[in-house]
Amino acid sequence: MQMGSFSLTTSIWQLFGFCFLYFSLVAGTQAECPVQLSQKSVVVEYGGSVAVNCSASVPHYGMGWEASEGGVEKTRDSVVTWRVSDLREWDIKPFCYINYDITHDTLCEEELPVTVYKTPDSVSISIVNHTRPMMEGEQYELQCDVQDVAPVQNLTVKWYKGQTLLSQTNFTDTSRTPVNEVAKLLIRPNRTDDGAQFWCEAKLDLGAEGPQPPPKKTSEPLSITVHFKPIISETKLPSIVTVFRGYPVVLVCEAEGNPKPKISWSLSENVDGDKLTVSESTPENVHCNASNSVGTTTRQVKVFIQEDYLPLIAGLIAVAVAFISVIFIFIYSIYYKTAKMGRYSLKDAKPSVQNGNI
Ligand SMILES: *[C@@H]1O[C@H](CO)[C@@H](O)[C@H](O)[C@H]1NC(C)=O
Ligand SMILES: *[C@@H]1O[C@H](CO)[C@@H](O)[C@H](O)[C@H]1NC(C)=O
Repeated sequence: MQMGSFSLTTSIWQLFGFCFLYFSLVAGTQAECPVQLSQKSVVVEYGGSVAVNCSASVPHYGMGWEASEGGVEKTRDSVVTWRVSDLREWDIKPFCYINYDITHDTLCEEELPVTVYKTPDSVSISIVNHTRPMMEGEQYELQCDVQDVAPVQNLTVKWYKGQTLLSQTNFTDTSRTPVNEVAKLLIRPNRTDDGAQFWCEAKLDLGAEGPQPPPKKTSEPLSITVHFKPIISETKLPSIVTVFRGYPVVLVCEAEGNPKPKISWSLSENVDGDKLTVSESTPENVHCNASNSVGTTTRQVKVFIQEDYLPLIAGLIAVAVAFISVIFIFIYSIYYKTAKMGRYSLKDAKPSVQNGNI
C-alpha cells in the first residue's frame, strides 16, 4: 500500500511538472517576438540572392540571425540583415533571435520561411512503348518528363491538344530538393485527331512572393498520326441504281481513310479505280471495295436495268392526244347541232328564216 500511494504521488507530481513545462513552452512560443521581418517569407531561385531585415521593436541586449548560410553574430544594433548572394541550400531555415529581457535572459526567435526553387532543365513529351502510327479507337499513353525541378509540390503539369487544355497534374511529393517528375495522359484518338499536336507545360506556382509571371516551360509539340479503316461516302454512291437500256451510268465510289484507301470494284472481274460505268451488261450486284493497311470496307450496289420506254410512252401520248381530239370534235359537233336547234325553237315566230337557213 505504501509503495502504491508513493508511486501515485510521484505520478501526480510528474503530471504537474509536464503541465507546467507544456504551458510555459506554449506561452513562450505564443508571445509576440518583438521583432519585425522586412518580409514574411521569401522565394529565391537556387543560386540567387536574398536580403531580409530583422528590426527590434523594443530595447534589447543583443540580436542576430541564425542560419546555415548568411548568419549574423549577436549584436546590439536594432536592424540586422540576413544576406546571401548565391544561395545554394535547398532546406535553409534562417531565424532572427532577440534577447530583450536581461532578468530572465529570454531569447525569442522569428523564423523566416524560405522557398528555394529551380526551374526544370527540360520538359519533353513522348509516347509510352510506342512508335508506329496510332490506330483509331485504341488507347495510348503519353508521358511528360520534367527534369530537375524544385520544389515539386508547387509544380503543375498541364496537357494540351492544340490550344485545348486536356488535364493537369499536381504532385504531392514533399521533397525540397530537385527531382525528375513524370506526368502521364491516356488518350484514345479518333480520325479527327490525325495530325493533332499534343504538348505539356510545366509551371511553378510560387505565389505572390515568387517570380511574376510564374515560370513555365513547355515541351516540343508531338504530332500524332492516326490510321483508320476506309469509310465509303454513302451519299455519292447509292445502294440502288436504275439504268435504262442504252443509257450507261457512271458510278463514283469515294472513300476516306488513312492511309489513303485504294478503290476497286468487283463484278464478274475486278476493276480498279473509283469510277465504274454500268450498263445493261453489268451484273445485278456490284461491290465497291476501299482498302488500306487498316482494313477493307465494302459497299454493295444493286443495278436494275430498265427498258427504254420513252418511244412507247411518246407513242401512247400521241394516241391519247388523237383520241381526246376526236372526242372533243365529236362533243363540239353535238353541241353545235344543239345550239342550232335551240335557235330554231326560239325563232319559231319566223319559220321562213329557219327554212331559208336550212
Ligand atoms: C534593411 O535595412 C537597411 C539599413 O538598415 C536598409 O538600407 C535596407 O533598405 C533595408 N532593406 C529592406 C529590404 O528593408
Ligand atoms: C507551394 O506548395 C506548398 C506545399 O504544397 C503550399 O503550401 C504552398 O501554398 C504552395 N505555394 C503556392 C504559391 O501555391
